[in-house]
Amino acid sequence: MRFYERVVRPLLQRFDPETSHALTISTLSVFQRFALFRWLAARICSFQDPRLKVTWRGLAFQNPIGLAAGVDKDARAARLFASLGFGSVEVGTVTPLPQPGNPRPRVFRLPARRALVNSLGFPSQGMEIVANRLKGNSVAVPLGINIGKNAETPLSEATADYLSCLEALYPYGDYFVLNISSPNTAGLTSLQAKPALTSLTAALRELRTALAEASNQDPKPLLLKLSADLTQAELDDVLEVATGNAVDGIVAVNTSASPEIKGDAQSISGGISGPPLRQQGLELVGYARRHVPRDFFIIGVGGITDERDAWAYLRAGANVVQVYTTLVYRGPCAVSSINRGLLSLLESSEVPSIQTLNM
Ligand code: FNR
Repeated sequence: MRFYERVVRPLLQRFDPETSHALTISTLSVFQRFALFRWLAARICSFQDPRLKVTWRGLAFQNPIGLAAGVDKDARAARLFASLGFGSVEVGTVTPLPQPGNPRPRVFRLPARRALVNSLGFPSQGMEIVANRLKGNSVAVPLGINIGKNAETPLSEATADYLSCLEALYPYGDYFVLNISSPNTAGLTSLQAKPALTSLTAALRELRTALAEASNQDPKPLLLKLSADLTQAELDDVLEVATGNAVDGIVAVNTSASPEIKGDAQSISGGISGPPLRQQGLELVGYARRHVPRDFFIIGVGGITDERDAWAYLRAGANVVQVYTTLVYRGPCAVSSINRGLLSLLESSEVPSIQTLNM
């Protein structure tokens, strides 16, 4: 960790955030080809203990700290992220056709708040390239694939984009996340409204059933990625649709475009991530847990920087959590440090395992 903070981070911060991110992913994607590097990454970074395990619908999360969507949009380094000790990896957002995303610059660091603002708008190599990359390249932890729509697809045809992505990527993921909450694709968040969400999820469920039957497997879980900026009434609507057999879980929350949360970063266009999101994310997760059935899966994400934040999300009702922004500030070994800390918290609170927290 010290090595990252003293050497790697200052080096990466010489570049603009997007360039340093691209350099990191390219380096990891080269390293992941070599078994020796995967082994070394696991030796240095990963931390295992049976009390950290979470299982759900046949998916075995070795620990509750997952990689959030957006880090590895095109699934270039998913295997290496698994070796680095993440309990799950979510790649994407993947769009049907390749697209460049919004104009640069579109990622900004807010070091004083250990936050980021981004307006990337789903730059993606597209589902065909991602599917080919994942083919025969199995990832050792549950792999989520987060899917979205192309910027040029009218909202009225968005369902077709999600269906294409689900069909093309279905064989390669363990669960799928419908990203309907990015603030950086015009109109996307309106898909969270009740009528749009009902028809979108019904179409995807039908396709999922057909794909599951064709492959003779249990249907793979579908989850919704929710915005941090939903009003109470909107959230109630989303949960009503989601729990009416529409999906199997939620990922909460995506970045926020709310002026209150962005604070002095309001002049920068895009969604904020990192600690400023935490309170909103925690409240949403806690509220959702009180209003969904027991086996409904909740992935908590937003402002998790250490074991206390992760613990707060797990106690609020998340089954597992994910991180993104803290990795930029603390490096990938933050994952093992959070896992070690969680174990101490389990011991001091005399809870036998993470799995039992929400039972
Ligand atoms: C994201 N996030 C994101 N989410 C998503 O569903 N699809 C995506 O493509 C992206 N892309 C993306 C890019 C960048 C630069 C950031 C910072 C974030 C949102 C991410 O998965 C997560 O929900 C939020 O960042 C909140 O978590 P953290 O960053 O506070 O741990």
